[in-house]
Amino acid sequence: MTTPFAPAAFPYARPRRLRAQPWVRRLVAETTLTPADLIWPLIVHDGDEPRQPVASMPGVFRLSPAEAAKAAVEARDLGIPMVALFANVNDGLKDTVGTPATDPDGLVPDCIKAIKDAVPEIGVMTDVALDCFTDHGHDGVLQDGKILNDDTVERLSEMAFIHAHAGADAVAPSDMMDGRIQAIREALEANGFHDTLIISYAAKYASAFYGPYRDAVGSSKSLSGDKKTYQMDFANADEALREVAMDISEGADALIVKPGLPYLDILKLVSETFKIPTFSYQVSGEYAMMKAAIANGWLDEDRAILESLHAFKRAGASGVLSYFAPQAARLLGA
Ligand code: PBG
Repeated sequence: MTTPFAPAAFPYARPRRLRAQPWVRRLVAETTLTPADLIWPLIVHDGDEPRQPVASMPGVFRLSPAEAAKAAVEARDLGIPMVALFANVNDGLKDTVGTPATDPDGLVPDCIKAIKDAVPEIGVMTDVALDCFTDHGHDGVLQDGKILNDDTVERLSEMAFIHAHAGADAVAPSDMMDGRIQAIREALEANGFHDTLIISYAAKYASAFYGPYRDAVGSSKSLSGDKKTYQMDFANADEALREVAMDISEGADALIVKPGLPYLDILKLVSETFKIPTFSYQVSGEYAMMKAAIANGWLDEDRAILESLHAFKRAGASGVLSYFAPQAARLLGA
């Protein structure tokens, strides 16, 4: 009988040998982060100013369609494969069912076209949810204080169709209604959009970390109550697996887990259980937290950005949506 080889103990085993020089650290790195891992979320708006700063997200601007196209050029030049669009529309257009969400000549279709005209080779992903377009700030149709699931799903299917028709490569339902992936897939197939990706926010938690985003898209003023009847309870992990399994069976091509760093356990669980592309979203509140600490000189900006993004790769993400995307891509290219 052979005895198993016993690894030597200290002082023969010195794990620090593998960390002693930059070249060996690079050689043995278990994961890598490149610009190809990044998705850049763009907040677009229909206001007069080309670029309007977002107070709670220093360095992030609401962009006109023309500015969004410029950002897409920048993304392409930096090696970022895809941008994701989120809308801030004039409050005067908003109503209880989110009518501007399905306007074929609305802000999001305009931006898709402007981007695709400027940079046909970049991926464009859109947010499919009603919150940017309703006067109550909820992701669905609200009636007597309740979010109506099936009525919302109908609106979302139409919205996804409008985005695909305008040229979106991927639609990303972020609303957490039941059954929306199947309904959207059927609407896309029925209209000949066989190649449009559905990237489902399959595990999306009701989170305080979306605060700055709601300011950016202009839904925070109007939002009444919280989103706990549709977004997930942060106490739960098994539930994320059930949500993901359903969305895959309904026709999702890829998944998003959201928020990001506080939910790395969910990301790891999902990516190890389902071998399907899984993205994470480093959301607005995470960005704002880091930016605030950076502004105070409490965190080293470049190092904190790269370390936080790398963590997603280590936890199993195929890629990350992050407001730091262009900055990170520049650092990675340098
Ligand atoms: C809306 C939506 C939200 C985010 C993306 N899409 C907010 C919410 O659900 O209230 C958050 C993004 C961020 O915080 O960066 N369905």
